[in-house]
Formats: sequence, structure tokens, C-alpha cells
Amino acid sequence: MRTVLSEASYAEFQSQGFVRTGLVLPDAVLDQIRGLYQAMPASLSNWSYFESNAIASPREPGRKARLKHLLRSWVPGGARPSSSPKVYEKSIYGSTEMIPVVLEALLERGLKDHLRETSFLAAHDILLEGTKHDHNFGFHDDGFGWDIFFQTGDDITVYIALQDMNEETGGRLSVERHPEESVLFAERNRSVQAFARYCKDQGAALKDGRVTREGAETCRRRKHIADAYRRMSEERNLRTRRHYRKVEMSTIDMRKGEVILFNNKLFHDVETWKCSSYRSVYIIRCLPLYEMGLSPPRKFLNDVDCNRYLLDGEAGLVRAIDLETETPTFVACPTS
Ligand SMILES: [Fe+2]
Repeated sequence: MRTVLSEASYAEFQSQGFVRTGLVLPDAVLDQIRGLYQAMPASLSNWSYFESNAIASPREPGRKARLKHLLRSWVPGGARPSSSPKVYEKSIYGSTEMIPVVLEALLERGLKDHLRETSFLAAHDILLEGTKHDHNFGFHDDGFGWDIFFQTGDDITVYIALQDMNEETGGRLSVERHPEESVLFAERNRSVQAFARYCKDQGAALKDGRVTREGAETCRRRKHIADAYRRMSEERNLRTRRHYRKVEMSTIDMRKGEVILFNNKLFHDVETWKCSSYRSVYIIRCLPLYEMGLSPPRKFLNDVDCNRYLLDGEAGLVRAIDLETETPTFVACPTS
């Protein structure tokens, strides 16, 4: 995180586990976000694809479909059966046109003061919306996810409150404090790179020397990759259970439009929402362009677009990128 956050922001991240940017999105942009998602029915919610993606599609019968199921059976909050209670009313993952709108508005207001010159894929956005009766993801860390595929341990989550969230309303995000003391921190980049190397060693097909998701899904030794991936998920669930009570968290009050940054590879949680109105948050995941040995996919979660925008850290601007025709410049992954 030292290579993605400015010195002052990194110091804040080190002690609190998040960065309070002081940036507030104007009402006009918040209205645009609300308008966009209001027009999307809850049935577009695609969180559940993380746990059971496309598996038994008729186009992919038999062994390959079963393997895909195995590879994609990742659950952000730990293993939950598909009959688990509803998680959010709307949980829509995609890469909407709000990504450049929001990032431009934040850059205009000084987002760059919080970052270094590293560039990011502004990979996907998420709308999470629910009532006090809906569940959230619970205490978890977002480990390596098959669908997201290209990711690093220093991913930055841009987290925006679409209404106030405080002690009275509930619904506050909490994040792990003192990240450098976290059991997750030291290995956060290494584990992703080690998995990429494993896929390569198994003969997964490459693009520009990097493992592709499809290459791993279709290579001859894909069963071994699936087993390694499943072990990684199981270890994460075990670790979550082991550390659940010991982790010290910051609980974050936010007012409408306020923007904070945190790292989703560390433990985080959301408290129960107490109001009769909806609770909504809008999130953009920014992935530093580290050399992880992985190739960013153009689709995720059953054919939804992702990785369509680049946040150029040096120029301080956001632009569209087509990974079919342009390979971004990856930089060495820091070792600490
Ligand atoms: Fe998460």
C-alpha cells in the first residue's frame, strides 16, 4: 500500500485501516448514481455468480462445467450454501459509465493528493443496497476470486456512502486496524503471485506471458489448478474463523456523498442497518497495475464487462481502455 498511497494517507491507513479522504461527491453525481441503479431491477444482482457461476450451462456440459463450478465456487464472506439468507436486495457488479464520472469528480476535488503515481485498472463498480431485513457479507476478507482473476494485495476500494451512516442509523463499514500487524498483510501480494506461478507451471495458456483465466480453465492439468484454488479458499475460511474475535476494527461514520479508501484484502464488515429506508453504497475497485503474472479478463460474473477503465496515476486522469487491443504497462510488485 506504500506504493499506492501518498505518505500522509499511508500513515493514516497504517493506524486506522482506511483513508478518510475528506472528499464529498456533489449531489448531482450522487443523483446520477441513484438514477442509474434505480433503472436496474434487483434481478440483475449478480453477487451469487461468485458462488455458482454458469456452471451447468448447456454449452458447458460434463467435466468442464463441473470444473468451472469448482473454480468459481468462491464466496466473499466465506462458504455459504446457496440457500443462505438473501444478501442485499441489490448487489450489482459491473463496470458502468459511472466509473469515469465518479473518478473524474474525485480527481477534480483532489483524489490524487492521496495517491502516488501508480496507475490502476478501475476494474469494476458495485452497488450494494438493502433494507434492515437484508443480510450483508459479514466479517470477511476478499481473497483471490476466480471471476475477478487479475487482482493484487494492494487493491484500493473507493467506498461512497449514498446516505449518512452513523451510530444512530447503523450500517457502518468497519475495517481492520493496524494492517501491518495483520495476519493477511505480509502475504497479500505473494499469495496471488504464487497461485499465478502455479497455474503457469501446470501449463495454463498465457497472453503476453501472463496466465489467462480461460487458459487455466482449459489446460490439461486444470483439475490440479481447481484443487489448489479450493485449498486456498478453505484456508481463508479457516483463517477467518480463527481470527474473527481477535481483530481490532475501525468503525467508520460517513455522511452522504463522503468517500473513503480501504483495502478489501484485509478484514472488513458492515454493522446492521437500523432505518426503515434503504441503505446504499457505491464502490469502485481500483487494482494497481502490478506484475502479478495474471492477465486481466474483459468479462466477469457470467459475461459482464469489467476492466474497461484506467486510472492513470501519473497524468491524474481516467480513460477507457480496451484490453483486447491495448496492454497496459505493468510495474514490479513491491515485496513489502
Ligand atoms: Fe468484501
